Amino acid sequence: MGAITMESPLIQGAYMASALLFILGISRLGRVRSARAGNRIAALAMLVAVVATTIVLWGDAGRETLWAVLAGGVALGSVIGLVLARRVAMTAMPELVALFNGLGGAASMLVAWAELERARGTWASGPRGADGLVVSEGLFGLGTVNLATLYGPLFVVAAVLSILIGAVTLSGSLVAYGKLAGKIRGARLGPLGIRPLNAVLLATAVAVAGAVGFAFAGDPETAAWAIYALVGLTLLLGIGLVVPIGGADMPVVISLLNSYSGLAACSTGFVLQNNLLIVAGSLVGASGLILTKIMCRAMNRSLANVLFAGIDAGSAGGDQEYTGVKSTSAAELAMVLDAAQSVIIVPGYGLAVAQAQHKVQELATLLEGRGCEVRYAIHPVAGRMPGHMNVLLAEASVPYERLFELDEINGDFKNTDVTIVVGANDVCNPAAYEEGSAIAGMPVLDVWDSRTVVVVKRSLSPGYAGIKNELFERDNALMLFDDARAAIEEAVSEFGDL
Ligand code: TAP
Repeated sequence: MGAITMESPLIQGAYMASALLFILGISRLGRVRSARAGNRIAALAMLVAVVATTIVLWGDAGRETLWAVLAGGVALGSVIGLVLARRVAMTAMPELVALFNGLGGAASMLVAWAELERARGTWASGPRGADGLVVSEGLFGLGTVNLATLYGPLFVVAAVLSILIGAVTLSGSLVAYGKLAGKIRGARLGPLGIRPLNAVLLATAVAVAGAVGFAFAGDPETAAWAIYALVGLTLLLGIGLVVPIGGADMPVVISLLNSYSGLAACSTGFVLQNNLLIVAGSLVGASGLILTKIMCRAMNRSLANVLFAGIDAGSAGGDQEYTGVKSTSAAELAMVLDAAQSVIIVPGYGLAVAQAQHKVQELATLLEGRGCEVRYAIHPVAGRMPGHMNVLLAEASVPYERLFELDEINGDFKNTDVTIVVGANDVCNPAAYEEGSAIAGMPVLDVWDSRTVVVVKRSLSPGYAGIKNELFERDNALMLFDDARAAIEEAVSEFGDL
């Protein structure tokens, strides 16, 4: 065992296998059908990585205490992860992801910081040659060198980047969590959140990061203060960047922070010279960015607009006055469905809030039992996180082949007898086709093309975008004002009695 190091072919082979498994796992996550398998493959990849790294540490003489800390950390982390994953409600999933991102950022920051401290320790206590420079085996063989050469500029640059990105991710994610959990309201925390202050914090942090690098090339003992200042400034910057962003934009921010946590891990990979961490960090960084882009595109907003402007309900003429709205009852919905040959169900955020997925599936089964074709139209940003509706419907065992993406089903509403919109609002708002609307250009489900549209929601209040939805005033639209679960439950019982 003692001979096994990180450079051993066994460990490098395990890291390579793990990296390939990560890529395979992520590619499987792209489709609902293979997503569970993808998740398991990625978990296996992580297991291989942890086992390989543990073997290296095991064989490293004099590290028994470290090994005990590692085992304790793995045990504690696994228990906390398991309990959280089992307990968290589906609607609180974005909060959990925010916390996980923050912890990822914290880990990268702390490891990089510890490595910088280790390097400083080597400098302070290492044996000196006649010229006063450290004699060390270092990474580049025995010799007398100054610290920057001993570890190389890449080491210092990567460590500083890990701290910078990791700290922003940590504090930004904690604010994102606080906003989603309703613990942080408003766009300021003291002076933090004022945009010009963010620019000052960023500029100062970059200058201090440079100072850390210079201190390492000169006298690393003085670098300690610069590192403290860098950590402090970047933690403040993370708060300042996220706190002005509206709570409803948090899913996009969380996806971006997820990408940052990957970039921080990638930098830490360079610090530790660990290839797997570099690969896995890049994968997280890239996939987080892609997801952020997909979300922005589905909302027809730029990332800059999400980060610096926020949605402008006022530009849509925010007036929430409705005329000619027709309300209906669960009994009437059951009767309309009784005559239908084809039904499309459009789930939205309200379905998640009401946890109505099981009742919806019950209704669909009843309809299918009477020969009616039932399909689900899934909008890419329905709900509050990517894949939100897919996860909920999978939980209720809705067969994957009944789920259709926007592009696949949008042309079919015109051939559909009844569309039931369950707790969705913005994703089927015709205002998207109006120039100047706050959601202009956002792809939406053309539910009004079907013969009858029944919208199940509790009131006429707007959705996430905060704007009026003229669908509710259309001639073929009926509003069923109730909690989605209660309404569908009643419709199921009425339908069963027909
Ligand atoms: P929304 O437009 O937010 O509308 C949800 C509707 O659900 C509300 O109008 C609300 O009306 C209703 N509702 C809430 N609780 C309910 C309950 N218990 N029973 C019945 N209805 C209930 O949702 P959407 O159509 O799913 O659109 C998602 C929005 O979120 C989009 O604007 C999207 O851009 C944004 N967004 C999504 C994501 C992702 S990744 N999914 C990320 C960022 C932003 P009542 O209060 O009248 O009941």
